[in-house]
Amino acid sequence: MASYDVIIIGAGPGGYVSAIRCAQLGLKTAVVEGRETLGGTCLNVGCIPSKALLNATHHLHEAEHNFATMGLKGKAPSVDWAQMKSYKDDVVGQNTGGIEFLFKKNKIDWLKGYGSIPAAGKVKVGDEVHEAKNIVIASGSVPTSLPGVEVDNDAGIVVDSTGALELPKIPKKLVVIGAGVIGLELGSVYARLGSEVTVVEYMDAITPGMDGDVQRSFKKLLEKQGINFVLGAAVQGVETTKSKAKLTYKLKKDDSEVTIDADTVLVATGRKPFTEGLGLAEIGVEFTERGQIKTDAHWATNVPGIYAIGDAIVGPMLAHKAEDEGMAVAEVLAGKHGHVNYDVIPGVIYTSPEVATVGKTEAALKAEGRKIKVGKFSFMGNARAKAVFQGDGFVKLIVDAETDRVLGAAIIGPAAGDMIHEICVAMEYGGSAQDIALTCHAHPTYSEAVREAALACGDGPIHA
Ligand code: NAI
Repeated sequence: MASYDVIIIGAGPGGYVSAIRCAQLGLKTAVVEGRETLGGTCLNVGCIPSKALLNATHHLHEAEHNFATMGLKGKAPSVDWAQMKSYKDDVVGQNTGGIEFLFKKNKIDWLKGYGSIPAAGKVKVGDEVHEAKNIVIASGSVPTSLPGVEVDNDAGIVVDSTGALELPKIPKKLVVIGAGVIGLELGSVYARLGSEVTVVEYMDAITPGMDGDVQRSFKKLLEKQGINFVLGAAVQGVETTKSKAKLTYKLKKDDSEVTIDADTVLVATGRKPFTEGLGLAEIGVEFTERGQIKTDAHWATNVPGIYAIGDAIVGPMLAHKAEDEGMAVAEVLAGKHGHVNYDVIPGVIYTSPEVATVGKTEAALKAEGRKIKVGKFSFMGNARAKAVFQGDGFVKLIVDAETDRVLGAAIIGPAAGDMIHEICVAMEYGGSAQDIALTCHAHPTYSEAVREAALACGDGPIHA
């Protein structure tokens, strides 16, 4: 048995980042992790492997569609799927290995196995019980299930996001259930690999909750890339044979039932907190109605000495939100003042073009009765974007009509996921559209489109 200042349960982006910050702040720290490698869902079977596949297939798409125009003649490369998966695994290995190195460097103990909390101050891993002044639960989330749809990642016919990264072969027909982030990112990967992709979505728009302009434009762009959408459709069930699936959905508008064939069905209908086996109910930890661990503004649960962060608590299930909470709770435990600004958490979809948003949407602000101004600029007016065939998409900035303060933004376009941070920084500082517009932006860059959208909130953009 060992004794620690902090034991963190889970080594995903929330847990491992928290552990590093705890150690840096002088706390004796251990992390419990049952996977064979560190990094949680994000590094092992989420953000990182999917980005490797998105990168590889983006290049394939460029070769097939844009190389000849640029005078790069010759046949587009053929796909070696086994090698592509091996490249993806290598990227994962480099990243998970990097976390192991950081643990050693910061003298963080990795307690291998799945932990439970028999009482506040105690964490059981295998047969051993360790003591900790404080415990941070960073146990993450797992995919939600859908009635009538049984996921079997090993069989590779009905899969979740984990199985979709390991398909034995590229499906001729892929049906994705759910037009959220996972469905669209992985749907894009397979569409670029030549699969016929149909996305079946319950709501009447893709990426529910996002800005309406983004939803409409993004759908059109994905349709241009060959992805089919069936919206307003409730999935009734999936039947499988040895090598195929039949998916039935009911259209909400007329209650008609439609059955479609698929080689693979990807279930991407959301995730739920993963807290099973921790013994939290037994020690009286309170949950929300949606199964999230309840915490206060300092990530403390109702049981003294037990904290929780990341996907297991309320808020967007995003790696960077978990990371921020991980750092902040470490500071709280070290007697400092940890803080997360939940109003400025960007969200990014890593398709091509990328989609990035931050702050409130135009619809949400209007519903609040807030007086706003919207500045929009199309990438068609951005020289750099046109040079790389990325003139589709736009930057949309939403500001307070009286103070000009930036309240929200959405970008569809090249490197949107990186460009959004200029707007995040402006928002953190309570900045205005004029602040962005008065900042010199290098030419030619994609970021000039952000400045033009800021100019559109004032006297008008130059290139529109
Ligand atoms: P999601 O919540 O983004 O989307 C799920 C979609 O499935 C929604 O559009 C929903 O309306 C639809 N849906 C639910 N039940 C349905 C049904 N019965 N029939 C048809 N459609 C149905 O969830 P997703 O894509 O599974 O992602 C899970 C979590 O992981 C999200 O919180 C997401 O933000 C996060 N994530 C973030 C990434 C990023 O930041 N790039 C990448 C991957 C995941």
